[in-house]
Amino acid sequence: MKKAFIKSYGCQMNVYDSGRMADVVAQHGYAETGTAEDADLVILNTCHIREKAAEKVYSELGRLRALKRERAEAGQDTTIVVAGCVAQAEGREIIRRAPVVDAVVGPGSYHRLPDLIRNAQARQKGVDAEFDQVEKFALLPKPDAARIRGRGISAFVTVQEGCDKFCSFCVVPYTRGAELSRPVAAILDETRALIEGGIREITLIGQNVNAYHGEGPDGAAWSLARLIRAVAEMPGIRRIRYTTSHPRDMAEDLLAAHAEVPALMPYLHLPVQAGSDRILKAMNRRHGADEYRRLVDRIRAARPDIALSSDFIVGFPGETEAEFEETVRLAAEIGFASSFSFKYSPRPGTPAAEIAAQLPDEVKDARLVRLQAQLEADRQAFNRATIGRVLDVLIEKAGRHPGQMTGKTPYLQQVQVNGCEAAPGDMVAVRITGTATNSLFAEPVDPGRTGAPLVAAA
Ligand code: 5AD
Ligand code: SF4
Repeated sequence: MKKAFIKSYGCQMNVYDSGRMADVVAQHGYAETGTAEDADLVILNTCHIREKAAEKVYSELGRLRALKRERAEAGQDTTIVVAGCVAQAEGREIIRRAPVVDAVVGPGSYHRLPDLIRNAQARQKGVDAEFDQVEKFALLPKPDAARIRGRGISAFVTVQEGCDKFCSFCVVPYTRGAELSRPVAAILDETRALIEGGIREITLIGQNVNAYHGEGPDGAAWSLARLIRAVAEMPGIRRIRYTTSHPRDMAEDLLAAHAEVPALMPYLHLPVQAGSDRILKAMNRRHGADEYRRLVDRIRAARPDIALSSDFIVGFPGETEAEFEETVRLAAEIGFASSFSFKYSPRPGTPAAEIAAQLPDEVKDARLVRLQAQLEADRQAFNRATIGRVLDVLIEKAGRHPGQMTGKTPYLQQVQVNGCEAAPGDMVAVRITGTATNSLFAEPVDPGRTGAPLVAAA
């Protein structure tokens, strides 16, 4: 049997798409392999969000060139495909720069992957960067629940793709196209199959997931909240999450879902990017710092124990020291449980890349160090605050030590549970006993009790 190696860079949308691509090529006779060395087909599912991410693909292609040559000498053919957001943004340029590449396919065209591969193998290099999301989801084979369950008890389901917000720093509207919501029925069918296959946690994903407005079976546009409530009804589901959200789209019914739907986890990734009103305006975020603060107050009023996480960009063009300090202040005030922070990276074709006042790298470096110190302190404080609490842990797999199982709290913290006999997919009530840099330690409250989740984490 032929083998395919698919490597995913960037966000969860790509992780999901890589899975869908694995299913397409499986239908055409390729079994998945974990290494490029024995692969007849290599697909790099790339990310264009920052320059560093985009450049990674070219260094990987350098390695693959040597590999392809070695395999050719041994009489084996290797087909190399670049997929994802670099494929969308750079198209044919990729083949010019890296002739080792046989085909380039953007995120809207994965249903046409088999044709591209066939053509490539007939020595016809192809580039497909059309936006055909509707067809893509309709024509791709249904996700293989057994393959997904083989990777764990948690799965992503893409509900929405693309973005119409046009933040001035961001390539996503160009690489993923306009906002498109999948129909409710398709999402629920996929989710049901995953749960029947043993998946216990579903994360609904989209570049702008809370802007979801897919067509429901009743013909009406459903909100994300309504979709969440429908998923929560499915027997066997234990946890629901969603990501990534835009502050402008935190609708009232979504806050109500956080208050009322027990399976919806008290965790929200709500990127703020910056704490200065002037910078937020220049970023075209369409909200100010105080609006974000008030929104957080409302979210916390709806679900008092909710954990928040965020993305930050430091060194946006023209950002002054004082403006940067406002970002640190906002972060400290909110107290994020977890965060991702980045140096601003100018991206071709985005408005912010055209601003004259680009900042030197040293300034961005220094600001990133300073912000990350704050964010890390807040994360550790959040983790320490859970010591002594009783929390539900959804068990994922065996831990590093005998008798230990590992899983996650509702707040997405990784926990090592000692003396635990539960199996993957079980929910265990534990008492948090300590913290390390990247995980918590815990003991089962009642070693015999698994399965039934606590109604509320005390
Ligand atoms: N430079 C740096 N970070 C960026 N992000 C998006 N575009 C850029 C850029 N040009 C960050 C944002 C976003 C996350 C996915 O990546 O913080 O929320
Ligand atoms: Fe990277 Fe954005 Fe594309 Fe995800 S959608 S792979 S983060 S550029």
